[in-house]
Amino acid sequence: MQVNAIVFIDIGGTAVPAGQISITEDGRYSRCEFAYGRRYLQRKDAVAIDPVQLPLGPALMEAPEGFPLFNGVRDAAPDAWGRKLIDRESLRSQGRPATEAEFLLVSQSGNRIGALRFGPTPVAVGPVLPLQIDDRLTHLGDLEAFQDLVDRLEPDRPLPPRFIDFLAPGTDLGGARPKGTVTIDGFPHLVKFGLSRDRYNMAAVEAGCLDLCEMAGIPTCARQVIRVGDRDALVLRRFDREEGEGGVRRRHMISALTLLGAHESDRGLSGYADLYDGLRRHAVSGDHGEAVFRRMVMNVLCGNTDDHYRNTALLLTERGRYELSPLYDVTPTLQSLGARNLFLHLGRAGAGREATLENAVAAGPSLGLRPERAERIVNDLSEMVGARWRETLRSRGASEQDLEMVANSFSEAGRRVGADATPEP
Ligand SMILES: Nc1ncnc2c1ncn2[C@@H]1O[C@H](COP(=O)(O)OP(=O)(O)O)[C@@H](O)[C@H]1O
Ligand SMILES: [Mg+2]
Repeated sequence: MQVNAIVFIDIGGTAVPAGQISITEDGRYSRCEFAYGRRYLQRKDAVAIDPVQLPLGPALMEAPEGFPLFNGVRDAAPDAWGRKLIDRESLRSQGRPATEAEFLLVSQSGNRIGALRFGPTPVAVGPVLPLQIDDRLTHLGDLEAFQDLVDRLEPDRPLPPRFIDFLAPGTDLGGARPKGTVTIDGFPHLVKFGLSRDRYNMAAVEAGCLDLCEMAGIPTCARQVIRVGDRDALVLRRFDREEGEGGVRRRHMISALTLLGAHESDRGLSGYADLYDGLRRHAVSGDHGEAVFRRMVMNVLCGNTDDHYRNTALLLTERGRYELSPLYDVTPTLQSLGARNLFLHLGRAGAGREATLENAVAAGPSLGLRPERAERIVNDLSEMVGARWRETLRSRGASEQDLEMVANSFSEAGRRVGADATPEP
């Protein structure tokens, strides 16, 4: 089956046709091509929708082998959670699981992540395929019913009654955990639901970890823990939207996967130094080395080993250059045995992934930091997190039991490294 669609990107609050994508799927074989439109290329404000795999230019481009879609386009499609919803809808209405093209194109909701949208012709954004999910908004008062749907959506269980209501708000966001878009005071927010099988209060702990990251000098997304039914949920203000003339505007967003031209399955092939290099190539000017370093150190200190490519995002600024988005998805990964390894190497690829303060300091020079500076930041942040993580998580609603559960993840916090390190007992 071959599907053609026009890719639109919002520029200054208007959906502009950028080019045409063609997706061919035939069993396990897939192929994806894209060409920018001539009119788009003539615009002064034209930007590449993917600075690595789809640079601006007139050529017809083909996605590299093993990539069902170009990375920058794939960023506009959902991950595990949204795919699960779309699959259930496809099974319900078409009697078969959804295809890659459907995962990308099915949503007609205004909630899609970033600034890309799709249409059948360059005239307007709109449905491309028979399977489609129409726009619906979710408000705070709907969240209990939404949470109920999340709880009931186990494999092979009958579809919950309000399934259709929450398809649109639920499908457009990435990540594996159940989430949706909720409109608060006319502005879209992302809500991450708790699950009955969670081993600790995810909302409270995640909010607290982001608080610590903010204290560490990292811009983080605005957040709130709210009560939904018998559980807490985390509400995050969407940073890929902004107030503008004529209402809420979309900001184009790419993942670090796109920035690095990497493949989903590239575990262990990239390091924080690659992120730094990618930022130097494609980001606005700034001290990216220290920004990346602080994020890496906080992942070590909070024991967050889920620092994969999609947990770093970049937002388009003017002039076609990017900036790191506010930080999100920092949570302690529960693990009792063995070394704790980050997803990315600390420093260059091959430098090692073990989450220790020593490895973090050693990575400093590959991020442009002098060794003394790297050591100082590590010791300062370690002291801060060691002294404050319990009270910070507690103030977001974590219980003593939650703190016990995650304590092992904070085992590096409070330790000192380097010449003035106090010897360990
Ligand atoms: N505040 C936000 N605004 C806009 N997009 C966000 C925000 N927070 C996260 N995202 C996007 O949603 C995706 C899923 O969020 P994340 O917190 O990583 O969930 P999960 O825990 O399921 O991985 C992210 O990969 C990112 O693309
Ligand atoms: Mg995530």
